[in-house]
This record gives sequence, C-alpha cells and structure tokens, in this order.
Amino acid sequence: MVAAIPPPWSGVRWGRGDGVGLRFRRRRATGESGGAVLDGTKESAPTEVGEEFTPNEEEVQPPLLLHSLAEFRELIQACLDASGAKTVAEIGSQDGSSTQQLLEWAEARDAHLFCIDPAPTPELVELVAGSPRADLILELSLHALPHLEPCDAYLIDGDHNYYTVDRELRAIAAQADAEGRYPLVFLHDVAWPWGRRDMYYAPDTIPPEARREHTYDKGTVPWRADVVEGGFRSEGHFALALREGGPRNGVLTAVEDFLRDHPDLTFAKVPCVFGLGVVYSSSVPYAAAVGQILERYDGDVLLRRLEDNRLALYVRLLQLQDDMVELHRVRHDDLRELHRELEKSWLYVRDVEVENRALRGRIGELEEQARVAAHRHDELVQEVRAVVGSRSIVAAELTSRLLGRLRNQPSLSFGRLRALAEQDGA
Ligand SMILES: C[S@@+](CC[C@H](N)C(=O)[O-])C[C@H]1O[C@@H](n2cnc3c(N)ncnc32)[C@H](O)[C@@H]1O
Repeated sequence: MVAAIPPPWSGVRWGRGDGVGLRFRRRRATGESGGAVLDGTKESAPTEVGEEFTPNEEEVQPPLLLHSLAEFRELIQACLDASGAKTVAEIGSQDGSSTQQLLEWAEARDAHLFCIDPAPTPELVELVAGSPRADLILELSLHALPHLEPCDAYLIDGDHNYYTVDRELRAIAAQADAEGRYPLVFLHDVAWPWGRRDMYYAPDTIPPEARREHTYDKGTVPWRADVVEGGFRSEGHFALALREGGPRNGVLTAVEDFLRDHPDLTFAKVPCVFGLGVVYSSSVPYAAAVGQILERYDGDVLLRRLEDNRLALYVRLLQLQDDMVELHRVRHDDLRELHRELEKSWLYVRDVEVENRALRGRIGELEEQARVAAHRHDELVQEVRAVVGSRSIVAAELTSRLLGRLRNQPSLSFGRLRALAEQDGA
C-alpha cells in the first residue's frame, strides 16, 4: 500500500542518489552543440565535431561501487531471524535494492515491512504496490515515526546527518521505552563518508541551527576533512557539510551520542560498504545470538583495510575519470578551433574562386575584343592592298602632297602604305 500524504515539506530541493559513480558514455555532438558547417555551400551538411562525455549511471555504477544496504543481506536477515522480528521499518528505500530482499524475507516469514521515503523511485512504488506485505509511507522519517506502530526492527538509511539520525534514534527509543523493549536497529553509513560528516538530501528540512555549512558542488576524499574539487561528490543530488569531524556532525557521531545516553544498548560496527551499525538491547533474549552473528565482522581490521583500499581506488578512479573528461574537453575545444580555421579557409577559397570566375569572364571578353580587332585589322590590310594595287593611288598621292604643302599638313605616302601592306599581309 502506498500512503500518498501531501508532504508538508513539498517544494524544498530534494536530492537522490548515493554519490558520484563512474559514468562513461559517448554521445555524438551535432549542430549548435558541437557541429560546424565546413564547406560553406548550400549543399553542405553539418559536420560533427568530436564527442562529448555523458555520464551513464546504469552502465558502471553498481558493479564498480557497492553502496547499498543490500550488500549486508545475509547479516541483516540472520539478525532479523535471530530476533524473531515480525515488523520491520526501512527508513530510506530509494529504488528498492534492499527493500526487494527485505520483502522476500518478510513474505517467507509472514512478517510486514514499512518503507518510509519521501522521494521513492517509481521502481520502489511499483515494488511495494505489488505486495500485501509492505506499506510505503511518503514522509520524512521524523514525521512518520511518531505515527507508526513500534516495529521489531528498523533500518535507518535515510538522510545521513547528525540531526536526522539523532532524532530518528530518539524517536525509536521513546516508543521502545513505552513498550519496555528496545528494537533491533540497523544503521547504514556509520563509516566514511557520512560517519563523521553530515550530508543532506534536503537541507531546508533541517532546522538552520542544526544544519552545517554545506556544498552541492564540491566533493570529499577519505584523507581530508575539508571539501575538494572532484572527489566523491553528488553532482547536485545532495549537499555535504564543508567540514568533516567535530561535535554533532555525521551518522556515527549521532549514534555515539545516543549510546552515551543508553548504556544498556550494544553497538556493533561492520566496517565496509560505508559501514553498517547495529544497535540492540543487551537484555533482550536474542542479544547473544545477534552478538554471535556480528562478532566476526564487528570492527574487523581486515574488512576495514579492504574498505579503505576500495575507497582509495574508487576516488583514484574518479580522479582519472575527471582527468579524462578534462582531456576530452580540451581535445574537443582544439577540434572546434581547427574546424573554425577550416571554415575560414573554406570561405577564403570560395572568395578566391569567385574572383577567379570574374577574371575568367574578363579574359573571355578581352579575347573576344582581340578577335574582333584582328578581324578588323585583316579587313584594313585588304583595303590597303587594294588601294596600293590601284592606279589612282599615284594621282591621289600627288594631290595629297600638293594639298599637304598648301595646308601645311601630312600627306598621303604611297611608299608608306605599301610598306604597311607588305609588313602585315602575309
Ligand atoms: C541512501 S538511499 C537508501 C538506499 C537503500 N536503503 C539501499 O540500501 O538500497 C536514501 C534514501 O533516503 C531517502 N530519504 C532522505 N531523507 C529522508 C528522510 N528524512 N526520511 C526518510 N527517507 C529519507 C531518500 O529519498 C533516498 O531514497
């Protein structure tokens, strides 16, 4: 059943996801986003320039970074069995990775599961809707818990910050006190990165005085208390405190402060996959059995070393991914620049071709003029030959000389005309 209660915190910025994954996918860039028209003519098609990196969570995240409570299934289910739990509340179910297993467990044990998540994925909604053994409560844990019947077990994996976890533990304890029996409580993220550093899915749901200065953009690495560019980060999905450590900061700090006020409770910590904490009463009948199940993992040095190593490798991988994206960006910019230059060259070539066409036209005109002039010249030569060959030329020359003298101007020369005709007339 899905309880769709209009949330009082609606409208606040709400995040999703566990952190950055390794995400490589290539998308071809076209048109405005990266293409360029190279050849400058109308017939030309856009030419693609390079490729862009687009992260793709599905392809690589799950196998690369184990991050779900689901990884602790054998332990959790063994403890649930040992405790004889019949009602379980999961705070923070997200896409149902751990919910699916809990549901299978609940179906086999005739138990019931309550999932509390104000922003579940459609997969989770579908999963819960298909089972009579589960209810989905679309609320913040701190709003939902006081109205929920006390459960035998809780899995706390919602908003990983001191304020929320502290209040969740105290809300559960308040109900337990009334019942006289503290439940079995599992908490995720009691180790790095959120063990000593607050993260907020929706900072606006945390009272300002309990909320630390935080960032959506920067990340964290295991060996630094401040934040860094890159590192393990949310890419806008959630915010993380600017500093690690200090009082009232992080999930483990909340658990430790809570335990200080409840000396009758036992705490075990499995130091891998971001850390699983288990809190249970030392006086319940199943305490010894749960203690035995957890014994070999609680604070195990080898597990911790492997976790440190896995986190260091993962952060290194993120660094390499960032370097690769940067290299790709630079290459992409270079390619764009090259294409811009090519485009300019192409326009230049086109201009030269236009000029060439104009020059070729002019040459044609001049050749035509020369042809007409040559023709005219040939006609003139014929004329001159005809004149030189006629008898009347002698009389014309005499008349011309006489008039030339009288008028003081050049006169017709028979000799010159003949020389001209002989020179050109082949
Ligand atoms: C880390 S994910 C849970 C992952 C899941 N338990 C698993 O192991 O696969 C955290 C989930 O908690 C939810 N959440 C965040 N703040 C919450 C709150 N105050 N109350 C309940 N759920 C919350 C988020 O919407 C998100 O789906």
